[in-house]
Amino acid sequence: MNTTTDTIDHSPDLTIRKFLINLEDGFPRHWHGDAFQTQLYNALSMSFPAGEQAFIDSVRDCLPMLPADAKYDALRTSAKNFIAQEATHRRIHERYNAVLEKQGLVNHWQDWIPKRLAKFKAKGVHPLNFLATTVAYEHVTAVLADVMFSHPELIERATPDMQALWRWHSSEESEHRSLAFDLYTALGGKYKNRIVCYVIAIFWFTVETSAQTANNLWHDKTLFKPSTWWSGLVYEFHPTKGMFWLMGKPMLAFFSRDFHPWRNQSVEPARQWLNAHAERWQAVGIA
Ligand SMILES: [Fe+2]
Ligand SMILES: [Fe+2]
Repeated sequence: MNTTTDTIDHSPDLTIRKFLINLEDGFPRHWHGDAFQTQLYNALSMSFPAGEQAFIDSVRDCLPMLPADAKYDALRTSAKNFIAQEATHRRIHERYNAVLEKQGLVNHWQDWIPKRLAKFKAKGVHPLNFLATTVAYEHVTAVLADVMFSHPELIERATPDMQALWRWHSSEESEHRSLAFDLYTALGGKYKNRIVCYVIAIFWFTVETSAQTANNLWHDKTLFKPSTWWSGLVYEFHPTKGMFWLMGKPMLAFFSRDFHPWRNQSVEPARQWLNAHAERWQAVGIA
């Protein structure tokens, strides 16, 4: 991928895909191989229906602010496809989360997100700042996707279906990583607001990921097992493959004034996975 913003291929064509998976028969309680990693990923899944709806709403609310100029037509098309991709993610994770409910877990994240959004809306926060928050979370999901592709061993103990589900979602997060950023930039979004929203987003993401994971482990009756804590420590802080270290540098890159989601990044790992697992999805449109 090119490294100057002017020549970056901002939005690859975004295919809308139907992901093929049978979730109705459920999946193992510790599908990721151990309690900690399973309940961490489950917690993330619980955030998606409400979180990705917020991403969709923020893009939808800001799209009418784009000038009618034809030079924005490609961005408008990509925005529609971004919305369609996120809508398919929401639907799959709703089905995933229904299995978690049957396993006895309680999704608190689905209440936290709408309550916080309602508070910010009541305070009159501008739609561009909701979009800046989406830009922030889209960077987090893109970094998670990059880590998943560069360190496949992190999810290799998971069941084949669940590996495919997370890699399909990661592929599309990688593909559409710059849509919210490009829209924010086209609308004149300011650097300072992008950074303030990022810091707030990272704060809530850290607090709520930790709280929902702990709650899942509590319902799983594994919260106080030493093996759970050991797994958590290794997963986050292993010297060579700890998530804290793997995510740290790309997360800090967001603070650069000339940051762009595609700088030094490539859509190739995502495309390679999608091409190698074409039996897992059906294209349903390129709007
Ligand atoms: Fe998504
Ligand atoms: Fe996304």
